[in-house]
Amino acid sequence: MPVTAIVGVQWGDEGKGKIVDMLAQRMDIVARYQGGANAGHTVVVDGEKFVLHLIPSGILHRGVQCLIGAGVVLDPEAFLSEVEGLKGRGIPVEGALYVSGRAHLIMPYHKRLDRAAESSATGTKIGTTGRGIGPAYADKAARVGLRVADLFRPDYFRARVAQALESKNILFGHVYKEAASSVDEICAAYLGYAEQIRPYVADVGGMLRAAVAAGKRVLAEGAQGALLDIDHGTYPFVTSSAPCVGGALTGLGIPPKALTRVIGVLKAYSTRVGEGPFPTELDDGVGERLRAAGGEYGATTGRPRRCGWLDAVAGRYSVAVNGVDDLALTKLDVLDDFAEINVCVAYELDGKRLEDIPDDTEPLERVKPVYETLPGWKCSTAGVDKYLDLPSAARRYIDRVEELVRAKVSIVSTGESRAATIIRK
Ligand code: IMP
Repeated sequence: MPVTAIVGVQWGDEGKGKIVDMLAQRMDIVARYQGGANAGHTVVVDGEKFVLHLIPSGILHRGVQCLIGAGVVLDPEAFLSEVEGLKGRGIPVEGALYVSGRAHLIMPYHKRLDRAAESSATGTKIGTTGRGIGPAYADKAARVGLRVADLFRPDYFRARVAQALESKNILFGHVYKEAASSVDEICAAYLGYAEQIRPYVADVGGMLRAAVAAGKRVLAEGAQGALLDIDHGTYPFVTSSAPCVGGALTGLGIPPKALTRVIGVLKAYSTRVGEGPFPTELDDGVGERLRAAGGEYGATTGRPRRCGWLDAVAGRYSVAVNGVDDLALTKLDVLDDFAEINVCVAYELDGKRLEDIPDDTEPLERVKPVYETLPGWKCSTAGVDKYLDLPSAARRYIDRVEELVRAKVSIVSTGESRAATIIRK
């Protein structure tokens, strides 16, 4: 069965990195389809921690080819430093890692614009990661972006940078009161990266289509989560790409029928980083306990994540939007010490009960969660690797989550190591 997609079904940070790493051992190819260095996928192997931002989490398995698709926005500096970091730790990347020439480049002025917009007194603060994601996708859509393949056409590259800076420098000077960006400096740096990146550039779409035709096993790796999707998330508090499963098709250039399975990754409670509605957010000691027990600090920015109970209304929506076949429920052990666990089963808005997430963001900001309280298990599930070894209250929690979000939980993660995983038949 050729392509399995992994999607986050919350606001990102569901623990996709570990699930991708685990499934990668049975794959020929792992391909990242959207986003950029805003992601932070944490994988722990033999007690050693790896945080991957751009490179697919399959890279830690020998013999698995890792591809970065056209839908990704590539920061060459971040990419090369990640490559060097992996090599320095003895992970082979040459011959195992390829980037699409069609992927757009994050330029220095994208990062500057992202940060300037976020710190501006006017406008909507999104709480971005400051990695230039929004401005890079905006330039792509406006057809003024630069792509990886353009690094190898220096004259064209320089002309496009100069063209882009005509308008960006007006913004820097007049709106943000900052210094202009220099064409020469950018070209010197980026054309310098070109030769280092060249060995990794390939026709990734073509490779994937050939792999699918040959019946190879491909894992499409999403970053962020469904509720951060530019179309189906809580706009404008979203990222600028398509983390939902449709993004796997457009971002990789594979036909829809190649996709045979969708695995949604759902954390046993909720977190969100940045601004935007979060109905089950806990601004109290319980939220603090979740943050401390779950180590809920951004893998990319170090920011403390907002924490709350599992939102099954949002989960049900994401399962439906993505056609999730199976769920991987992660970080179950973080709930070990709670005597009672709440799950949001519906919302209340203006005195009315809502079973479904509102289609607009403004009412979502005003909804109140309706909770069902389940008994906790008050014992350690850390490292449990057999379903029947879980306490009955934990199994009951999983059963209820399945009913509420309408998908089967086939994988349960009980810790960061590869071994701390339950696979249900
Ligand atoms: P951007 O993707 O940096 O533009 O940020 C847009 C929104 O997506 C912000 O709320 C970020 O906190 C959020 N975001 C981006 N990447 C991630 C991620 O990998 N995990 C969780 N949230 C993310």
